Amino acid sequence: MAVREITTGIYWVGVNHWDRRLFDELIPLPHGTTYNAYLLKGNEKTALIDTVDPIKENELIANLQHLGIKNIDYIISNHAEQDHSGGIPRVLAAYPQAKVVTNVKCKAMLMDLLHIPEERFILVNDRDKLPLGNRTLEFIIAPWVHWPETMLSYLCEEQILFPCDLFGSHLAQSDLFATDRGRVYESAKRYYAEIMMPFRHIIKKHLQRLQEYEIRRIAPSHGPLHDSPAFILDAYKEWTSDEVKNEVLLPYISMHGSTEKRVSYLTDALIQRKITVKPFNLTKTDIGELAVALVDAATIVIGTPTVLAGPHPVVVYATYLTNALRPKTRYASVIGSFGWGGKMLEQITSMLASLKVEFIEPVVIKGHPQEHDLQQLDELADRILVKHKDIHLT
Ligand code: FEO
Repeated sequence: MAVREITTGIYWVGVNHWDRRLFDELIPLPHGTTYNAYLLKGNEKTALIDTVDPIKENELIANLQHLGIKNIDYIISNHAEQDHSGGIPRVLAAYPQAKVVTNVKCKAMLMDLLHIPEERFILVNDRDKLPLGNRTLEFIIAPWVHWPETMLSYLCEEQILFPCDLFGSHLAQSDLFATDRGRVYESAKRYYAEIMMPFRHIIKKHLQRLQEYEIRRIAPSHGPLHDSPAFILDAYKEWTSDEVKNEVLLPYISMHGSTEKRVSYLTDALIQRKITVKPFNLTKTDIGELAVALVDAATIVIGTPTVLAGPHPVVVYATYLTNALRPKTRYASVIGSFGWGGKMLEQITSMLASLKVEFIEPVVIKGHPQEHDLQQLDELADRILVKHKDIHLT
C-alpha cells in the first residue's frame, strides 16, 4: 500500500502483509495482516509511532523516503514485540539522531531483544507528554495488552489514539479505514479472542480509563483504522463483559465414528432445546474459529475418544489452548468413549484448571453407543438447559 495521509501532517507509513498465513507459528491469518506505523509531523519535531516486522522494514524505509523525511526525532515504541519493534534498529541506522521513546519495561525488552544501546532511549511515564511543536503526544501506560510493557499513545490535538495491538485485527485490505464493518468485526473479534482474551479483566480497566479521553479516531497497529471509534469500543465492551450467550461449543475428534455419533446426537438434542450449538471437528477446524466462538459461549463440551489411556492428542491441543485463552465460559463437560479404560476424563478436567467453570456430569460410554447410551446425551442436554436458564444470557 502506498503512504496514506490521515490528516495534514499525519501519515500511515505501514505495510500490508497480504499473504502471511501464520503468526507466531501458531495463529492462522486467513486474511493476512498489516503492520501499521505512523509518521507525525509537528512544526518542531517529527515522530514515528512504532515500526514494522523486520521482514518488511525495507518498505517502511521506502515509505519514509517517499515522504522525503530527512529527520526523525522520536520513534515511539508502544510495544516490544518484534512485529512492531523489529524495524527500530534499521530506522535508528537511517536516522542517527532519532531517539526511542518508551517506558522503562519496554526499554529493557528492546535492549534484550534488539540490542538497542541505552543512550538511544528517552524514558516516559504514565501521562507524560511529548511536545512536537504544534502537536503533543501523551502516553498511557497500559500493561498486559498483551505483554507487560505495553503502552498507548494519544495525540492530544487531533484526539487520535494509537493503541498498538489493542483494537487491532489481522486483516490486510486496501481501505485504510474500517469501511466493511461486518468483515472488520469478525477479524477484530478473532484478534481479540486469540491475543487479548486472556487479559479480559485488565482490558476492562483500560477501557474505563480511556473514557477520560476524547477519542475521534483509533489507529491500531494491525488492520484498519477506526474513524467511528464507538464501533470497536462497544465491541470490546461486549466481549470483555461477563455476559455469556446461550451457546454450546462442541470441539471433538472421532477416530472410528462413535464419538461423532455422540456429537451429532447431542447437537440435535441441544438444537431441540433452542440452544445454539457449534460443533468443531478438530481435524478440519481453523483453531482461530474455535477461539472466536469461545469469546461468548456459556458452555463447552469436549468430545474425545480414549487414546493411549488419555484424550486424543488433537483434543489435548485444543483443550490446552482453551485453558490458556481463559474465556468467560461458565460450564464444561465431556462426551467420549473408551475401549478398556484410561484416565481421559481426569486429564481433560485437569487441563481446564484456569477456567472458572462448573463441570456438568459427563457422558463417557464404553464402545459404540447404543440406544440407551444416547438417552444419557438427552439427559446431558437437559442439564445444560437447566444451567443456561439459571444465568443471564444474551
Ligand atoms: Fe502485534 Fe503483540 O504484536
